[in-house]
Amino acid sequence: MTHGRGARCWDADGHEYIDYIGAYGPFLLGYAHPVVDAAVSAQLERGSLLSLNHPLHVLFAERLVARFASAEMALFFKTGSEATTAALRIARAATGRRTVVRCGYHGWHDWCLPLERFVPSGLVEQVLELDTSEPGSLEQLLTGAREPVAAVIVAPEMILPTQPKVFHDLLATTRAHGAVFILDEVKTALRIKPGSFQEYVGIRPDLTTLSKALGNGYPIAAVVGKREVMQAAAGLHLSATYHGETLGMAAAMATLDFVDAHPVAEHVWSLGERLITGLNESAARHGIPAVAFGEPLPPMPFLKFTAGSPALDERLKTRFYREVLARGLLLHPRHLWFVSYAHSEADIERSLEIADTAFRLTRSELDGP
Ligand SMILES: Cc1ncc(COP(=O)(O)O)c(C=O)c1O
Repeated sequence: MTHGRGARCWDADGHEYIDYIGAYGPFLLGYAHPVVDAAVSAQLERGSLLSLNHPLHVLFAERLVARFASAEMALFFKTGSEATTAALRIARAATGRRTVVRCGYHGWHDWCLPLERFVPSGLVEQVLELDTSEPGSLEQLLTGAREPVAAVIVAPEMILPTQPKVFHDLLATTRAHGAVFILDEVKTALRIKPGSFQEYVGIRPDLTTLSKALGNGYPIAAVVGKREVMQAAAGLHLSATYHGETLGMAAAMATLDFVDAHPVAEHVWSLGERLITGLNESAARHGIPAVAFGEPLPPMPFLKFTAGSPALDERLKTRFYREVLARGLLLHPRHLWFVSYAHSEADIERSLEIADTAFRLTRSELDGP
């Protein structure tokens, strides 16, 4: 890709796409957003990083604490992986325990990928994996762990369909075992309600991790949470040279201002719903076994092929995604999509037209290779 603007991006050969990958999540307001970029430019002229704390550090912390009902303190980082890793370290310090329970993807750091090649082998015993198809199995996992568990970290998009009770139960079970409950809102932050996914399901996690949309394209991440847990961070080394860098914070403040002044969450919800409904109608019309749904909710739609045979699903998927790409629609075949405030109703209708053609052409794959 050479450039992006709003909901569109262009490749090196000059092709234009309506883009729902959105660089994997940061662009809630769209690419090259003028308000966010202006705030970054203004900050750039004052020096991007200084020797002592900058007023933005305080203002941004206050802003996050005011926004999340579960937050009393905030700590800043640059990437989601840093935030989730820091949240675990804080939880370990707060509980004096080491083992953690994870669910899905929380970043590229060693603990998130304990089975990856070249990761220290001892991590496997200290990082347990929740079966997300059976969230109720958390109780068993915590009871059966060799050592008491320090933290349970949950990413909302991993537990489908979204049922508030499931999240209340996960939180209650975690607390009953004396562990810290971390909600990983790296993907969901700002997309749903002012207080994000936790407000939607009505829970107050002990810690929350945030990134992606928070800076609308500029690197910024945070851990926010309860004072009694966050205080454990005071005794830890959780700092890096660029953590105080202010461009990401200026971007985040401008993004928050914009989100507070515009119906961003409503827009991405209703357009996401329209996209999901249209895709399902279109797949049914052409007899394609596929289902579109929100992962976890309409602002983050995804499409799954459901023929039942992995080989056939792969063939349908390959054909469908090739056809949409060739017609100027950028959808990811293996990662959920993101609807942005820059997408318009016309973009959704055009996307559905392209998808309809692609479903029609995909139909021939059902007749065999
Ligand atoms: C739920 C979740 N947590 C953490 C991360 C890691 O964030 P980053 O890629 O900024 O390190 C991601 C990234 O996709 C994520 O989706």
